[in-house]
Amino acid sequence: MTPTKPRVALVTGAAGGIGRAMVAALLEAGHAVAAMDRDAAALDALRALHPDQPRLHALCADLGTEAGCAGTIADTLAHFGRIDALVNNAGIGVSSLRPDAETRLPAIEELDAATWDRFFAINLRAPMLLLRGALPHMRAAGWGRVVNNTTSFRTMLRVLPYGATKAALESASAIWAQELAGSGITVNVLIPGGPTDTPFISDATGWDRAAMLKPAIMGPPLAWLLSDAADGFTGHRIIAAGWSEATLAYRAIGWPELGADAVWLQGS
Ligand SMILES: NC(=O)c1ccc[n+]([C@@H]2O[C@H](COP(=O)([O-])OP(=O)(O)OC[C@H]3O[C@@H](n4cnc5c(N)ncnc54)[C@H](O)[C@@H]3O)[C@@H](O)[C@H]2O)c1
Repeated sequence: MTPTKPRVALVTGAAGGIGRAMVAALLEAGHAVAAMDRDAAALDALRALHPDQPRLHALCADLGTEAGCAGTIADTLAHFGRIDALVNNAGIGVSSLRPDAETRLPAIEELDAATWDRFFAINLRAPMLLLRGALPHMRAAGWGRVVNNTTSFRTMLRVLPYGATKAALESASAIWAQELAGSGITVNVLIPGGPTDTPFISDATGWDRAAMLKPAIMGPPLAWLLSDAADGFTGHRIIAAGWSEATLAYRAIGWPELGADAVWLQGS
């Protein structure tokens, strides 16, 4: 990778399987990382992976609350004095409802209002609240990166409420990219590209862990997205499983070609 300016990145869900790989890749690339998670013990384990690393700041908060999101931004700013990149990686899946929910999908009757609200609060509302908190600082710098971890289209059409929250985050990503075009702040989606070997996938699925994608594949494309080489690269969707710095494979966020059959009014 070509040398790039060191940045301050806030990574959510940093103590999870993919988050840890992201933190390692960003530190390796020379960036400072505010690693946030709600799991204090897992954050301790993350810190132990990078002993005496002054560019790593672990912070514990709950993204399910508005105060937790505001506190995350405040803590990052208090520690590093700036925030250049927001990596919305934290998420909950249906294994958090019951261990076998990936293979015995939650039925309509199982999804009460509190469950529905919790999924949307963590997977969709938190990225929006964090962006609102970070945006003034990115605008002042004239530079910023937003990277959202959504999921595969197949999953969006397969499993509730998870798929709906991620479809909504995909939609928000496309809209934010358009809204922020020309500001120096880019918005992109980065996903693994299939089941990934982390605690997110319960052993109760019976799926072969050896056949799953490895979290480390998220590191190189994330580091590239934070690099100066990715200036102006916005509104795109990177699938880590098919990415290399040589090919820079990407497509548009969402599936804009599916919009072609809509009937629009002139000028709308
Ligand atoms: N593992 C997969 O197969 C897969 C595939 C596609 C996308 N993803 C997405 O990747 C992201 C990371 O998933 P992972 O596989 O590393 O899972 P993981 O469960 O290992 O990590 C998720 C992390 O998010 C944290 N988190 C959850 N709720 C939180 C909250 N309210 N506040 C703060 N932190 C919270 C958890 O404590 C955990 O450390 C998720 O958004 C997930 O939807 C995962």
